[in-house]
Amino acid sequence: MKKIQISPSILSADFSQLGNEIIKLEKGGADMIHVDVMDGHFVPNLTIGPPIIKSLRKYTNLPFDVHLMIDPVHKYIKNYADAGADIITIHPEATENLIDSIELIESLNKKIGVSLNPDTPIKAIEDILSKIHLVLIMSVFPGFGGQKFMPEVLNKIKDLNKIKIDKKLDFNIEVDGGINFENSKLVIDAGADILVSGTTIFSENEGNIKKNIEILKTF
Ligand code: DX5
Ligand code: ZN
Repeated sequence: MKKIQISPSILSADFSQLGNEIIKLEKGGADMIHVDVMDGHFVPNLTIGPPIIKSLRKYTNLPFDVHLMIDPVHKYIKNYADAGADIITIHPEATENLIDSIELIESLNKKIGVSLNPDTPIKAIEDILSKIHLVLIMSVFPGFGGQKFMPEVLNKIKDLNKIKIDKKLDFNIEVDGGINFENSKLVIDAGADILVSGTTIFSENEGNIKKNIEILKTF
């Protein structure tokens, strides 16, 4: 039976209570914590950086699934590794040499993720799929929580899952953006292993995190 993991995005959390929000996510059954790092340059929004991640590290032992929406990214990777990231996901457009950045993350003993924006084709990363642990498929253009899921990415998820099976690769497929109770089953059936969700987890059912995570996991 396929095991679906949930990586709640703290972008939708109360930023004045991030430590307590992380405790609530862990108690609610989160498998990891999705940390959206934005620099106001790669995406038109600015969130948190290494000092905040370092201060949040003591609140949970769950993996920090750190999504770096920053450009340039290569020279900052070690800062996030040192701050406590467990998975470091980068966008290929944000590094001059994707292989070098992948090898740097590997040298830091962190899990390697690469993210595909809705308009970036799989072929942009097909030759490095065997070197990474995670493909983060964006189902919105990155920058903000609360956006509408883009159903056209379902075919991309299916295509990526077919490549994974045909080439006997073992990276996880994580889908990020606009995931809700209506589309989560479609995303899982298309091949997703991990769902990122911010708005749905924090706002549905009067903010009942445990119930919302349970519903997202059900397919
Ligand atoms: C968007 C972020 C997503 C987003 C998900 O740039 O990468 O992780 O916060 O939030 P929702 O679930 O609200 O779309
Ligand atoms: Zn994200």
